[in-house]
Amino acid sequence: MTTFRYFATCAKGLEPVLHKELAALGAAQVEPSRGGVAFAGDQLLLYQANLELRTAIRVLKPILNAHVESPEELYDAVRSVDWTQWLTPDHTLAVDANVRDSRITHSHYAALKTKDAICDWFVDRVGRRPSVDVECPMVGFNLHLYRNEMVLSLDSSGESLHKRGYRPIQTKAPLNEALAAGLVLLSEWQPLCPLVDPMCGSGTILIEAAMIALRHPPRLTRKRFGFQGWLDFDIQSWTALRDEARSKIGHQLPAPILGSDIRSDAIAFANKNAKAAGFGHLLHFERKALQEWHPPVRDPGFILVNPPYGERLGEPQAVEPIYQTMAKVFTARAKGWTVFIFSGNERFEQIFPIAPFTRIPLFNGRIPCQLLGYKM
Ligand SMILES: C[S@@+](CC[C@H](N)C(=O)[O-])C[C@H]1O[C@@H](n2cnc3c(N)ncnc32)[C@H](O)[C@@H]1O
Repeated sequence: MTTFRYFATCAKGLEPVLHKELAALGAAQVEPSRGGVAFAGDQLLLYQANLELRTAIRVLKPILNAHVESPEELYDAVRSVDWTQWLTPDHTLAVDANVRDSRITHSHYAALKTKDAICDWFVDRVGRRPSVDVECPMVGFNLHLYRNEMVLSLDSSGESLHKRGYRPIQTKAPLNEALAAGLVLLSEWQPLCPLVDPMCGSGTILIEAAMIALRHPPRLTRKRFGFQGWLDFDIQSWTALRDEARSKIGHQLPAPILGSDIRSDAIAFANKNAKAAGFGHLLHFERKALQEWHPPVRDPGFILVNPPYGERLGEPQAVEPIYQTMAKVFTARAKGWTVFIFSGNERFEQIFPIAPFTRIPLFNGRIPCQLLGYKM
């Protein structure tokens, strides 16, 4: 099979985890850069990346690189491609663009120029043009323009890969699924060890951890990926890949995965989400305030928690009593446990009385955050 270069995007800070994930899938020439990881592989690896990567947001297949300083230069560069390689006038298309630090300043206009160039190319050649479908295009394109260097790619993912499909319902401030998986992988928790989230909200961290423990591909039940609309889509290889992945899924968790939260609606959401993910019967969630928390299992395990940090849920100072409670409860009752706290509140470290053994800078959307690791 022919080898291609691809680029998987991810949240800033998760590049090293995505790098490891790609290496584990057997990708070649894996090279992390800001906001993503470049790699090489065949078409099957592209399908596998979309099915199995836990921290990626989308996987792109670059098809055109050019230096452009004006909308006209962008238009001409796009028109230089033989577009019959990638679509026909009977396909629908959409262009998504992000533009930064360039002479062209408007993403929307850059996307429009790209779309016009592709459509005009077809009109000149065959007298017909593909139509636009921004909601569900058969072929989606991604234009990245940074310091006047453009990369135009085919978007093999379509909808963002953080959407697994198990979480239709949102509680307050739920974590993005790809970020939650990234936290689990960064903590280096192993499935043989109990895992607890005492402020679990809608259960995202624990559901992602359970998927890892069960070797459950995060997007096994997703209906559509971008590559399914491509001219070279190989349905047989895709079906075989999914069947093989399904056959490897475990049915039991090697160690308990347990969540609690002060809010009963959060627990209802967590149960519903775990059920939608297909393993509601394997996870256990209960309503409990952190103040009442005691280790739910005898052997010390991992605590991985994303406490409120005020930025989105109210005022940063309003959450300080929660941090004081965490400090008191974990130091008194979690001896021997490894605790990972994902916080976006600058005051957190001043309140928590122990020095972390690791501090990993990350982002939750635009909020700078840290994953702090403690041995209790
Ligand atoms: C940032 S949210 C966690 C979101 C979660 N990771 C998710 O993906 O849905 C923080 C959670 O802490 C819970 N919480 C706040 N104070 C608490 C307390 N004293 N005891 C237990 N849970 C608490 C909130 O109800 C909220 O669900």
